[in-house]
Amino acid sequence: MRIGLLGTGNVARALAHGWSTAGHDVLLGSRAPKERADLEGLPVASLSETAAHAEVLVNATPGNVSVELLRSIGAQALAGTLLIDVGVGLSDDFTELSHPNSSLAEQIQEAFPLTPVVKTLCTMDSTAMIAPDSLDGPSTVFLSGDDAEAKRTTGRLLTDLGWPESSQLDIGGITTARGQEHFALLFMGIAGGLGAHTFNINVVPRRR
Ligand SMILES: NC(=O)c1ccc[n+]([C@@H]2O[C@H](COP(=O)([O-])OP(=O)(O)OC[C@H]3O[C@@H](n4cnc5c(N)ncnc54)[C@H](OP(=O)(O)O)[C@@H]3O)[C@@H](O)[C@H]2O)c1
Repeated sequence: MRIGLLGTGNVARALAHGWSTAGHDVLLGSRAPKERADLEGLPVASLSETAAHAEVLVNATPGNVSVELLRSIGAQALAGTLLIDVGVGLSDDFTELSHPNSSLAEQIQEAFPLTPVVKTLCTMDSTAMIAPDSLDGPSTVFLSGDDAEAKRTTGRLLTDLGWPESSQLDIGGITTARGQEHFALLFMGIAGGLGAHTFNINVVPRRR
């Protein structure tokens, strides 16, 4: 698929490498594409060019500016394109959520009703996103969104990153994205306790 990734940071680059290795056509979208000419061999274009190119767009920009950034691309340009949202809105010191009684994904879905939004992957660090096998056992990736077809496509793209179907947990509509995003606070605590950021949650149901 043609996958456009908004942002050129840790998450966008990691996912671009992961999906490129799986055979997808990736393009990174930057505010300053000329300054990012040689980005680990990954192609970079403007945000609008990336949106125009993409069958699937991924939001990997700071969550407190993502809606504004998407507005600059325009609702018409985004209409009908699946948007996978990996962003989390946090204060600079990572202690406060920028959408405390809501979520970034809900805000995006509300602002762009013709763009199906799926929230996923934001409960782990960028290393784990593309290398679930590097963790010491199976773990879980969550999906939130209102559009069933968009979630199926996202599930297939997660499989391409190494997440088997058995590891993917659909937790419901877009309002459930706030659980994924608000986990960021606990994520920071676990990372502090563990002394490492690369880990993940494994949802373990009751033994049958
Ligand atoms: N890092 C992780 O492991 C991780 C894990 C889970 C979720 N997330 C979430 O995923 C998103 C991306 O994280 P990241 O670690 O890749 O962030 P990052 O390294 O800071 O990269 C963010 C990218 O967004 C673009 N951008 C657009 N508007 C911006 C602005 N006003 N200020 C700064 N950058 C802006 C920048 O690309 P250009 O300068 O080229 O435009 C920048 O490279 C965030 O919402 C984060 O909370 C990150």
